Amino acid sequence: MARKPLMAGNWKMNKLPSEAADFFPEFLELSKWQKEQVDVVFAVPATHLDRLLDIGEESGISFAPQNVHWESAGAFTGEISIPMIQDLGLNYALVGHSERRQYFAETDETVANKVGTLLSAKMTPIICVGETQVERESDKTVEVITRQIKSFASKLTGGDFVVAYEPVWAIGTGLTASQEQAQDVHALIRRLLKEEIGEQADTVRILYGGSAKPANISGLLAQDDIDGALVGGASLKPADFAAMVQAAM
Ligand code: G3H
Repeated sequence: MARKPLMAGNWKMNKLPSEAADFFPEFLELSKWQKEQVDVVFAVPATHLDRLLDIGEESGISFAPQNVHWESAGAFTGEISIPMIQDLGLNYALVGHSERRQYFAETDETVANKVGTLLSAKMTPIICVGETQVERESDKTVEVITRQIKSFASKLTGGDFVVAYEPVWAIGTGLTASQEQAQDVHALIRRLLKEEIGEQADTVRILYGGSAKPANISGLLAQDDIDGALVGGASLKPADFAAMVQAAM
């Protein structure tokens, strides 16, 4: 089935708020982005979100936080709530990125809580899953992905969501999963989603992330179950990300 591609940049902890807006004129000029053909989302540091609202409104680019808390308010120092994000008029939020899982003790359970609260708030979570190098080398990829998908499956009671498959060993390393390796896991994710939500799984966009770049994006996007990409390093450079968005059009 035809799914509208989604190209998402994840700036991680990069760029200053005062520099952020400078990226977009060049990106828009080079990409000749047609918003009817592909959705574009940038997950940026929370400090940048408010400053980018006008650009979002004028261009149609969506901006998203890289993390949210599942409670709507309270004594959670340093956290950002979903109502705060909604108050800015935003629709997407990144959830469960492997760097959050690795460095900030995010678990399958907290990821599931965030997914549940975002869907209840009618927002679209971009939910990251992926195996580590040790897990892949010990043939545990299927087991890990199955566990991660099933951990939030009970929260999928309606609404739009996106899954990002990011093999941890490919993130920022220059190693990319081959097209076949990526497609195999994307097909597995769609099968697992089908067990949970039936035919609606055919409408879910599954993104690939992990050293995606202009040189490898077309081959990845040509795979049946790869509906876009979640791009780290290459999304910091207007020309690179523009080329990748063009490849998705
Ligand atoms: O969220 C993005 C991923 O972590 C991929 O990062 O493209 O720099 O490997 P990367």
